[in-house]
Amino acid sequence: MTTTTRSKPAAPKSIPELSADLDAGLRRLKLATVRRQAAEVLHVAKTQRWTPEEVLRTLIEAELAARDVSNAANRLKAAAFPVTKTLDTFDVAVSSIPAATFDYLSSLEWVRAQHNLCLIGPPGTGKSHTLIGLGHAAVTAGLKVRYFTAADLIDTLYRGLADNTVGKVIDTILRADLVICDEIGFAPLDDTGTQLLFRLVAAAYERRALAVASHWPFEQWGRFLPEHTTAASILDRLLHHSTVVVTDGDSYRMRHRTTGGDRH
Ligand SMILES: Nc1ncnc2c1ncn2[C@@H]1O[C@H](COP(=O)(O)OP(=O)(O)OP(=O)(O)O)[C@@H](O)[C@H]1O
Ligand SMILES: [Mg+2]
Repeated sequence: MTTTTRSKPAAPKSIPELSADLDAGLRRLKLATVRRQAAEVLHVAKTQRWTPEEVLRTLIEAELAARDVSNAANRLKAAAFPVTKTLDTFDVAVSSIPAATFDYLSSLEWVRAQHNLCLIGPPGTGKSHTLIGLGHAAVTAGLKVRYFTAADLIDTLYRGLADNTVGKVIDTILRADLVICDEIGFAPLDDTGTQLLFRLVAAAYERRALAVASHWPFEQWGRFLPEHTTAASILDRLLHHSTVVVTDGDSYRMRHRTTGGDRH
């Protein structure tokens, strides 16, 4: 269903058009769906002798349903997922994530409690799929989500540094209920990058849910966070209220490789 107000479908001949003042009022109130459906609903209501309450309810429910759909679409766009992955296409049985943990994560209780999630494991073990699937479920549940790779996140924070708006950039990011930072540690961070990451993690601490994924076990985060005191402070906050899931095993990519005949 579309909620745009571009053109009002011409009412069939037998249905009288909505009067111009009502039409203009509904346009001004931005009640696009009521405006689109009112003429027909009023016509049906008259012929079927609906109560005034039924008329009002039908129109309000139609408007709410259309808004829910468009809000969810807007939240999905704002989440900026790089690909579409959902929890129901994730095969828990072949992953190393325990089913009970997967169910707990799928409940999104941890997001509502502003707790965190850390997925640690080698390439192809479902970290991004899980993060995006959970993010998708959160969007569907009415929550705001923002996905970043660590590289994009640090770039975004760096841009704020350039024009002295890091605080504002962080506030904007933390409008999301769940902030996802994928691929932490793929590239090393310099001292400033580490400081910027600390500022974000500290600002989110106990206020927003963070979900991160990395190849590196925590004791090796010093490899890409050279400023060790700050690295320890980041981990301390990240892990205080956190579910830690180790995804191991063989790469799903390698196991399900498409071996097109002339490709290799
Ligand atoms: N348990 C699973 N069920 C279904 N698909 C899976 C599963 N695990 C991984 N995949 C699929 O395998 C591919 C690789 O998974 P994913 O991108 O989540 O790996 P990753 O752990 O993030 O790897 P990397 O560390 O390289 O980023 C994706 O297409 C993903 O959908
Ligand atoms: Mg990944």
